Amino acid sequence: MEKREELYRGKAKSVYKTDDADRLILLFRNDTSAFDGKRIEQLDRKGMVNNKFNAFIMQKLEAAGIPTQFDKLLADNEVLVKKLDMIPVECVVRNYAAGSLVKRLGVEEGMKLNPYTFELFLKDDAKGDPFINESHVVAFGWGTAEQLARMKELSLKVNDVLTKLFDDAGLLLVDFKLEFGVFSDGSIVLGDEFSPDGCRLWDKDTKKKMDKDRFRQGLGDVIEAYEEVAQRLGVPL
Ligand code: TMP
Ligand code: ASP
Repeated sequence: MEKREELYRGKAKSVYKTDDADRLILLFRNDTSAFDGKRIEQLDRKGMVNNKFNAFIMQKLEAAGIPTQFDKLLADNEVLVKKLDMIPVECVVRNYAAGSLVKRLGVEEGMKLNPYTFELFLKDDAKGDPFINESHVVAFGWGTAEQLARMKELSLKVNDVLTKLFDDAGLLLVDFKLEFGVFSDGSIVLGDEFSPDGCRLWDKDTKKKMDKDRFRQGLGDVIEAYEEVAQRLGVPL
């Protein structure tokens, strides 16, 4: 597999073409961003930890029947993935109230949501990733009703699989964000990454935050917390 030119540089990852038209290479950098990229810092080891964490989770999801873009780990910071045409919509599943839900509705952080909630955000930093609904996705042509239904179905399946996986490691999966894309065969496939950058994880007993909220809220020991989560799950680092 030959790495070719950079196709796109995101806030935390860079995407490269390869000599295979159906495959890309993702490079996980140490850049850590918050507040739609308004704050960016370098955190040692973050790229490597998130790359390996993501590979571990994507393989668990594949084993549970969820199609993902993961192909194979290439290096500490690099992974080979299926090339997807990304849908610019973020799917957020919440099991407990936190973050923007608490801000928006004034509910108490940590309140159990029964049932879980499913929300959509437009992936657009310049607009602050605005909250949108299903009819917006279809009306503005970001995805079809069928694609959206599949994204929702897969998001809820991911929630079932990962809630159990994290629970067995003594962690509450509070909420998470997923992004999907369309593969060359037209199917909807889970893309982007799953790492402590894009989810909230609390220790079940102490409720200690073990995710990117440590960075957003200036709590310190960000990567140390990511590494502890990885170690509890058995992710080889
Ligand atoms: P929120 O509470 O800020 O809406 O975020 C909900 C979850 O989704 C949280 O785990 C962080 C994740 N998320 C991202 O990773 N990137 C984003 O752009 C958004 C909107 C959410
Ligand atoms: N994707 C968002 C950003 O990098 C995540 C956050 O707000 O923390 O700005």
